[in-house]
Amino acid sequence: MATSEQNPAKVFLNTFNLTPADLLQISDLFIKEMEEGLSKDDHNSPVKMLVAYVHGLPTGKERGRYLALDLGGSNFRVLLITIEENGSITQLSEKFALYDDIMRTTQEVLFDKVAESVISFGEKYGIKETLPLGFTFSFPVQQHSINKGTLIRWTKGFSAEGAVGRDIMEMLQEALDRKGSKIAYLSALVNDTTGTLMAKAIEEKECFVGLILGTGTNACYLEKISNIPKYKSPPPNATHVLINTEWGAFGENGALDKFLTEMDAELDKAALHKKQQIFEKMISGKYMGELVRLCCQKMISIGILFKGQSTPKFDKIESFESSFVSQIEEGDKPDIKIITGILNQFDITPSEQDCQLVRDACVAVSTRAARLSVAGIIALVKKMNRIEGCTVAIDGTLFKKHPKLSGIMRQTLDEVLPGNKIRIVESEDGSGRGAAITAALASLP
Ligand code: GLC
Repeated sequence: MATSEQNPAKVFLNTFNLTPADLLQISDLFIKEMEEGLSKDDHNSPVKMLVAYVHGLPTGKERGRYLALDLGGSNFRVLLITIEENGSITQLSEKFALYDDIMRTTQEVLFDKVAESVISFGEKYGIKETLPLGFTFSFPVQQHSINKGTLIRWTKGFSAEGAVGRDIMEMLQEALDRKGSKIAYLSALVNDTTGTLMAKAIEEKECFVGLILGTGTNACYLEKISNIPKYKSPPPNATHVLINTEWGAFGENGALDKFLTEMDAELDKAALHKKQQIFEKMISGKYMGELVRLCCQKMISIGILFKGQSTPKFDKIESFESSFVSQIEEGDKPDIKIITGILNQFDITPSEQDCQLVRDACVAVSTRAARLSVAGIIALVKKMNRIEGCTVAIDGTLFKKHPKLSGIMRQTLDEVLPGNKIRIVESEDGSGRGAAITAALASLP
């Protein structure tokens, strides 16, 4: 029987394996970076640890009608959220396509598109009054208050010019003013991780972490103000505040180098934001399909996949979507029909063994992503001293669509921290609903 030492595919894909000891090491490294980020405000430490200006979790008393915007994931959405007198939440929402050219033009074009979408949503649903609006803006933002914050830099597929260094709410207000609209009063600016945490915390005690596994990845958690040397003037009665870690940037100073594979280096070379967001590039949906494609390309180049032949379609950067990874990993065994169907779109006619190898590549990449996210969760929970009880609220397309991710995360948590009481739960539509809940909290007396 071939052992992994003899099987070149196994040897190669094993470079994605992370042992429990590796994960604990990564977790400890991350705690160090977090402490660094909490101590300085100069943005020189890769993990920024941004103060989110949310000083309390929802009380359950929040009520009212709110608009919410969700920008920064696979879709741009506008929502109308009503928190009824009995506390139940109803919502209407619409998705609007954001094409690459809009994400990468100028802030005026981007925010005009956002403003037009809110206005057309308001017309469609007959909104006549000015409503408080919570804006989930899923990028690194240096907040100055709950409804003010400047963009530190773009991440993921965005690069609209003129936005870095500007206040997000001001750019949105200017766009609404250009259109003469009074539909919204801009009351809360939140990261999607914050929204995710808040949306779960309204119904569940002990929810202290919000996590996104989607186009990007990031987490926020509840920190004691006394642990944040850089937070100079908190409100007098506040004891805790949410911190947006921006963990996607972990590794930018080389901390993760020894865990990177040849494929990670390849991916970075062709990325829009080079040498940035290293942890994110190892985990999130924007990059997962591309990592699998690069693994396959490597196996083609050593002659063990597709008889050593690629095709022009399969050679194209970012052509292999992360949703294919989810489809290919469905079920206990490779579904040859599904995998063949996907590969046919690239003009490839695979053998059964090819299908198995492509699935092995998907498993290697997605398992590493799930395990790395657990290393991050462990760091946060240890930092808060809450291994004995903490709920992690999760949202994001990757988490929701990948058939195995949450199972691997659970298994990894128990393997690395046996006996832990950490719960991982989906926060349904957290990034949208959480913005409204935060806007509601901000308007409570
Ligand atoms: C990127 C953004 C971050 C966001 C995450 C998930 O990492 O920088 O703000 O939370 O993607 O959308």
